[in-house]
Amino acid sequence: MNFTITVVGLGYVGCVVAATLAAQGVTTYAVDVKGDVVRALARGIAPIDEPELAARIGAGLAKGALRPTEDLAAAVAASDLSLVCVGTPVGPDGHLVETDVLVACEAIARAAASRDHTIVIRSTVPAGLHDHVSQRLRDAVGSAFGDRLTLALNPEFLREGSAVHDVEHPELVVYATRHEAAAARLEALYAEHKDRLVRTEPGNAEVLKLVANVWHALKVSFANEVARIAAPSGVDAFAVMELLCRDKRLNTSAAYLRPGLPFGGACLTKDVSSLAFQARARAVNAPVIASILPSNSAHVEHFVRAVLRSGPRRVAVVGIGFKPGAADVRDSSPVKLVLALCEAGVEVAVADSAVLAARIPPLGILALRAALGDERAHASPSIAEAIQGADVIVAAHPCTEDCLALVASRPRVPILDIAGELTRRVDPHARAGIEVIEVLARVPWGTPPDPRGAGR
Ligand SMILES: NC(=O)c1ccc[n+]([C@@H]2O[C@H](COP(=O)([O-])OP(=O)(O)OC[C@H]3O[C@@H](n4cnc5c(N)ncnc54)[C@H](O)[C@@H]3O)[C@@H](O)[C@H]2O)c1
Repeated sequence: MNFTITVVGLGYVGCVVAATLAAQGVTTYAVDVKGDVVRALARGIAPIDEPELAARIGAGLAKGALRPTEDLAAAVAASDLSLVCVGTPVGPDGHLVETDVLVACEAIARAAASRDHTIVIRSTVPAGLHDHVSQRLRDAVGSAFGDRLTLALNPEFLREGSAVHDVEHPELVVYATRHEAAAARLEALYAEHKDRLVRTEPGNAEVLKLVANVWHALKVSFANEVARIAAPSGVDAFAVMELLCRDKRLNTSAAYLRPGLPFGGACLTKDVSSLAFQARARAVNAPVIASILPSNSAHVEHFVRAVLRSGPRRVAVVGIGFKPGAADVRDSSPVKLVLALCEAGVEVAVADSAVLAARIPPLGILALRAALGDERAHASPSIAEAIQGADVIVAAHPCTEDCLALVASRPRVPILDIAGELTRRVDPHARAGIEVIEVLARVPWGTPPDPRGAGR
């Protein structure tokens, strides 16, 4: 890689990124508005306490590759790429303060006036910031934006305490850009990690970084709630959590992490209720666990609203078992959806070959009839029959090829695609004429959703 790089902002992220690049021999200008930080770095003193950082700074300085400076304009004018690592603190109402990112990007754009340059935002930014920065840069440099001046996002996932190791051995490197020149530069920058490098949409990169940290926070809170609930009974929560993590198929894996159908069935609701009850019985405040069932109900209600929005008289629900392939309708969220629609005066036809074929009580058609329990709902012997005359089709389970062919035979009937299959898996040409209700709506995150109902 033959780039010269400017790192803007020398806090945890910038300092580690600049030092590790320079230690590899990459000419790296390290810029901060804080003169003391720049001067310390120039003398080989790490501004933060991180294992291996002083060694990387020393190596970078010895090679003449690490060039600390307060002169952003001169650094950028000599560079191909700027890595923006300035802070994005949280405001009193929870919003991320993006001012430093905007100020830095605009200063870089001015300084890079006469050469090809890529701005890479490495700071954690609020959703929608990529497009906001793009507009500001377009205003600043006109048609040079997207041509001479390009923009990318590249969130950083390092952990304090192992920052150098994490930067040098990333598990995942994600970037997003609408500019091919920026993509080519990032592919070159991360050539060594190309098996871990993923390009995505700007909105995905913005939200991914936030979601990753929220996921970590959720795991910590969950484990701590388990410990608080377990302690009064003398249960060893450390042992429980360790055993939990040993099941790599269901517990520490991608299982259950795909958005779609709310959970149901004979066990999950029952056991969530039971643990929440035990917390209450011991006067343990466990708000994460107590919120799981309300969160699941909110997801069903979200789908009900999405279906009712177009005022249908008749709806077909394809897939009624609590999960795809299950003949079991106990605590099934598609059944809850059907009942809510019936209550709203809608006639509903349901189809599910696994449920209809089941012979063992309490599964199968008898259980389904009992669960539906509303004269407006009835089971259809086939998907073809269920969707006849439907004003809306709900694909509660992933669509099989047969189902897709049938759905395609009823163009212009909106489909509520709960499993996200139509939007994700199906070739766009194959779904020409099919109107998908994008329930998990594609409203840009930076834009407040339409209060009249986002998602169409
Ligand atoms: N700290 C972490 O562990 C970590 C990990 C991953 C991502 N992040 C994210 O990376 C970003 C940076 O985090 P941090 O912890 O390094 O921040 P920090 O606050 O420690 O450092 C930011 C630095 O940027 C400098 N700065 C601000 N405006 C500048 C400008 N216009 N020009 C030059 N320098 C400027 C500040 O003086 C400061 O030294 C944040 O968005 C953060 O959320 C942090």
